[in-house]
Amino acid sequence: MKYYAHVTDAGAEQSNGGTDMKKIIAINGSPRRNGNTAELLQHALRGAADAGAETELVHLYSLKFTGCLSCFYCKRKDVAHGVCALKDDLAPVLERIKQADALIMGAPIYFMNLSAGMVAFIERLFFSNYIYSEEIPTVFPKPLPHAFIYTMNMTEAHVEQFKMRERLGIYEGSAARILRAETKNLWAYNTYQFSDYSKYESSIFNEPEKAAYRKEVFPKQCAEAYEIGKALVS
Ligand SMILES: Cc1cc2nc3c(=O)[nH]c(=O)nc-3n(C[C@H](O)[C@H](O)[C@H](O)COP(=O)(O)O)c2cc1C
Repeated sequence: MKYYAHVTDAGAEQSNGGTDMKKIIAINGSPRRNGNTAELLQHALRGAADAGAETELVHLYSLKFTGCLSCFYCKRKDVAHGVCALKDDLAPVLERIKQADALIMGAPIYFMNLSAGMVAFIERLFFSNYIYSEEIPTVFPKPLPHAFIYTMNMTEAHVEQFKMRERLGIYEGSAARILRAETKNLWAYNTYQFSDYSKYESSIFNEPEKAAYRKEVFPKQCAEAYEIGKALVS
């Protein structure tokens, strides 16, 4: 299959595809369309495309949407469950995710959490499919293989020190329960944040060390992302 990307609607880039193909959607939770997160997601989508899947990349920060407004429409007994009442730019994306065969959520770490855009996305997708019921913990229509890609300035040692795996494990646990499938993840530490560090106040960073890490380790993380994308649709 040939892979190419074109813009379809606000914030979305899609590859060509036929009806019998598997479909994977990647969500870029960074405002930077060409940053570290987007680059890793592109590699994951290329892996999925090479495995024969149709791909779509959604740039969350190109969409106008909010997090959950706590209206509880999705929990009402008199309407179909699993539907978010908000009709904004995210609504069609949530519908397409229900039709998809795999999902990748990529986010930079902001203040020791997922970016605000990714948290808002998760509130909308997860909460609308979650029911306050022991018997029906999720109304998501089918198991959806999925993965998180995290990018951050922190080193692996910082991640352990600040218990980041436990913190983000809260989202991963919810994802596994609500999307009814195992959660994969990729941690991209010590990312290169600026194209030219000399232009910014950034004395806490050792630029040559960061540049060396980027050169040596980032390609391996891109390769890991590629394999995750491939595995999600295989
Ligand atoms: C508002 C903001 C807050 C950030 N907070 C953190 C943080 O708490 N921990 C961290 O490791 N990196 C932090 N970073 C750095 C980004 O997570 C990191 O550069 C990331 O790789 C950027 O992804 P992108 O290139 O896809 O935009 C922060 C960046 C911004 C803009």
